[in-house]
Order: sequence, then C-alpha cells, then structure tokens
Amino acid sequence: MMYRWIVTGLVALAGSASIALAEQPEIPLMNDNGPRLADLMERAQTRHAKLWFAGKAGNWHLAAYEIKQIQSRLEDAATLYPGLPVTDLTTMAGPLRALAEAVKAKDGKRFEVTFDDVTRACNACHDASSRGFITIKRPTAPPFSNQVFEYKK
Ligand code: HEC
Repeated sequence: MMYRWIVTGLVALAGSASIALAEQPEIPLMNDNGPRLADLMERAQTRHAKLWFAGKAGNWHLAAYEIKQIQSRLEDAATLYPGLPVTDLTTMAGPLRALAEAVKAKDGKRFEVTFDDVTRACNACHDASSRGFITIKRPTAPPFSNQVFEYKK
C-alpha cells in the first residue's frame, strides 16, 4: 500500500518535471567551458541592483561602472549562447546606451526612466526565451551591506 503511494508520487513528480522542462527549451552553450547562462544572469542581476542604489545616491562613477558590468555579462551571453533570441535584444545596446547617457548627464530623473526601460528590456528577453516567469524589477534594498553606494568625498 505504502509502496504504491510512493510509486504514484514518483510518477507524478517525474510527469510534472518533464512538463516544466518542455516549456523551457534549453539554450545551447557554444562550448562546454563557458559559464552557465543562469550564472551570467545572476551576475547581471547583482549589478542591476547595485546600479539602482549607485544612481539613487548620485554616485555616477559607480553607476557608469555597473552599466559596463551589465553590458559585459550580456555580451558574454550573446557570444556563448548564440541561440538567444534577436541580437539587439541580446545585448540591450539601445536601452543601456540611453541609461549611460542619463548617468553621464548626472540626471536623476532620466536615470529612473531609463533604468526602468532597461529593466523592461531584461524582461522582454525572458518572455522571448520562454522564461516569462523570471521578472526583474526595481530593488527596494541594497544587495550588500558591505559596500558603500554614496560617493566618497
Ligand atoms: C538575450 C536575452 C536575455 C536578456 C537581455 C536578459 N536575460 Fe536574464 N535570462 C535569459 C534566459 C534565457 C534565462 C534563463 C537561463 C537558463 O534557463 O539557463 C535568464 C535568466 C535570468 C535570471 C535567473 C537566474 C536565477 O538563477 O534566478 C535572472 C535573475 C536574470 N536572467 C536577470 C536578468 C537581468 C537583470 C537582465 C537585464 C539586465 C537580463 N536578465 C537580461 C535571457 C536574457
């Protein structure tokens, strides 16, 4: 009886796992030595959060730096994972450039608007990659307590 419950449970589990995987086609890696796409993304996510707090603190040097970090992670993703949808989406070149211009102009208002545009572009690619369940948004708390986001005078 107990055995039957376990077998039924395992079959159900295997069934639901295969459905979930079928909905998320794997994006093939260029060569086996590269970083996992999800790990590159996690690094981009960290920088996305740091960027927000750098911009809000008016630390434009750090903000510009974090934009470059995000850009590099997306460029790595585009090179290593050529199966990602639409090249312009892949590097988000347009939205990131607009954000970099706002940072260069030290314009807090434009920073917020272009930051949200970048975030929308992140999510647009997740939607286009059958990863619509991964949603990025403005952070509400700094990702680390051991880094100062304000500019040192
Ligand atoms: C070119 C398409 C594309 C762009 C642009 C993109 N992503 Fe992703 N992202 C993906 C894909 C595909 C996955 C799923 C990876 C996998 O299944 O291995 C993913 C996964 C993620 C994850 C999940 C990682 C985890 O373990 O929780 C996060 C977080 C993430 N992306 C953040 C971002 C952020 C932040 C941006 C924008 C700065 C961004 N992504 C832009 C395609 C993209």
